Amino acid sequence: MGQTLTEKILDDHLVEGDLEPGEEIGIEIDQVLTQDTTGTMVWLQFEALELDEVQTELAAQYCDHQTYQFDFKNTDDHRFLRSAAGTYGAYFSRPGNGICHNVHKENFAAPGKTMLGSDSHTPTPGGLGELAIGAGGLDVAVAMGGGPYFVEMPEVVNVRLEGELPEWASAKDLILEMLRRLSVKGGVGKVFEYTGPGVESLSVPERTTITNMGTELGATTSIFPTDDRTKDYLERQGRGDEYVELSADDDAEYADEIVVDLSDLEPLISTPSMPDNVVPVREVAGEDVEQVIVGSCTNGGYADILPAAKMVEGREIQKDLEMIVAPGSKQAGELLAREGWTAELMAAGVNVSESTCGPCIGIGHVPASDSVSVRTFNRNFEGRSGIENDSVYLCSPQVAAAAALKGEIVDPRDLAEELGDMESPGVELPDKYDGSKADIIEPDEAVDDELIKGPNIGDVPLKDPLGADIGGETLLKMEDNITTDHIIPATSDILKYRSNIDKLSEFTLSRVDETFAERAKASDHGILVAGENYGQGSSREHAAMCPMYLGVEAVLAQSFARIHKANLYNFGLLPLTIDAETYDRIEQGDHIEVVDDVAEAVRSGAEEFTIRVNDDWEATAAFDASEREREILAAGGKLTLTKQQYEED
Ligand code: F3S
Repeated sequence: MGQTLTEKILDDHLVEGDLEPGEEIGIEIDQVLTQDTTGTMVWLQFEALELDEVQTELAAQYCDHQTYQFDFKNTDDHRFLRSAAGTYGAYFSRPGNGICHNVHKENFAAPGKTMLGSDSHTPTPGGLGELAIGAGGLDVAVAMGGGPYFVEMPEVVNVRLEGELPEWASAKDLILEMLRRLSVKGGVGKVFEYTGPGVESLSVPERTTITNMGTELGATTSIFPTDDRTKDYLERQGRGDEYVELSADDDAEYADEIVVDLSDLEPLISTPSMPDNVVPVREVAGEDVEQVIVGSCTNGGYADILPAAKMVEGREIQKDLEMIVAPGSKQAGELLAREGWTAELMAAGVNVSESTCGPCIGIGHVPASDSVSVRTFNRNFEGRSGIENDSVYLCSPQVAAAAALKGEIVDPRDLAEELGDMESPGVELPDKYDGSKADIIEPDEAVDDELIKGPNIGDVPLKDPLGADIGGETLLKMEDNITTDHIIPATSDILKYRSNIDKLSEFTLSRVDETFAERAKASDHGILVAGENYGQGSSREHAAMCPMYLGVEAVLAQSFARIHKANLYNFGLLPLTIDAETYDRIEQGDHIEVVDDVAEAVRSGAEEFTIRVNDDWEATAAFDASEREREILAAGGKLTLTKQQYEED
């Protein structure tokens, strides 16, 4: 039987296990990526592992989430990251050089390679045939030290594309259509492999918009085959020699097939406040808009901004709103400037920002209260924009630019008809992506050879090995789809403590309950209870590390998001799956005791535990850890275990 493209790349990198869906496999990692908000902890963990040098083919450290250095703590973090990259042999991309996924795609991503990144949108370069997976920082630190990455072998789903996109529809509409059909949970445990005759009609930047936002489906990753379009993109980036032809075998078998006819797509939009609340733009047309932003790792490239620039060229945006364009990379910004498009944007009334994630996580350009913000981003979780009760819509650059010109949400086809002289801008690549590389410091040009730690850079917290007893108060009972933004918010007043766990933990779950951190600290043996898809969203391991630091010992949920569950193991927290009936019966404040000898049961392969609530009633909770995850949990977390293993070797 033939192989899917995903299986081929995994097979080439397999060091443990079999490619059987649901089985744990260990794979060798070629490249790693980390960014400023997760990177400080990655390097502190790398230091704690007492490793001398990066062992992967390539490691790259980006500074993109918090680039505005309005507190010395941010600048200290950036300096620490530069010193870590220099000390251990990684590339360093300076603050303002761009968003990790965009810069990585431009400079390093290559077909057939495996990549692990401490950011949930790491799958972005799947659009050029790289198998890229998001993970917690500790997994990235271990991979960077040469250790395999362990993941449950996903099911590979064939997304067969037919036809071609009609005018005004875009790659963003394709991934929004996938979200409309499948929901934010629809990709859990899956890889989406795009195939079919429609693939060749999409350029690499369009493909990476799709693979980027596969994360919103909960997918392990998404990938496209390579072809002349991939070769052409790499050649334009000056990396034509890295092209490799890759595709699935003709007789490859997929777990499932989804067919999308591109020619049926129309402009779509995600309504507040979940990326899968997708409707045709026409359904929400007429909604007043006060802010429009084009940018982010989803739609921040040259080929994304150019359509918006063409649409506003020679016109002015409405006076009662603001439009911001934040290029995803300096390369994109530099090209747009050299070709005169930045001037056109400015003349139309657009505010051109530095290359940063910024507003995507509520850092800068926070919407006004009770206002609508239309963005080309990938997430609109409530509060992520920096204000509670926000109203953020997600769409293509074309729909965003149309909203800025009209002052309200409008289908660009209707606006074009109204204006009479506006054409669908299509997608165009530059002849050559010849931006400067001044902001990338290569390992052999490193400016530091030892770690520079400012006063805000703390230590990595460690947990004791797992004991026999786990029990305590239900500190919080949460609903479905709790995101890592709920657990550890990413706003600027909090982000600066990412390297200081003692301080950061004070903000744990503060968006759900302001008293949580105080109560958790006082109780010292807390339990968390949640509904479905607990921990969806970003890869941030702080969302496991901080509850652990506050004394939480177990999380009981109806289901978990993949990366977060791995992070719970990595930090020694017991994730147990409960059914809907048990969830309904548990109340916040209930005392929950795990009846079994936990350490013993974890070690001996138990697949369920009995929980006793208020000494009154009992229920069964499922535990589906692999042998390796059991070992990690028993040791008190992955850092402790890996250290022990290195000492033994
Ligand atoms: Fe940055 Fe937002 Fe992407 S935070 S990495 S632009 S999802």
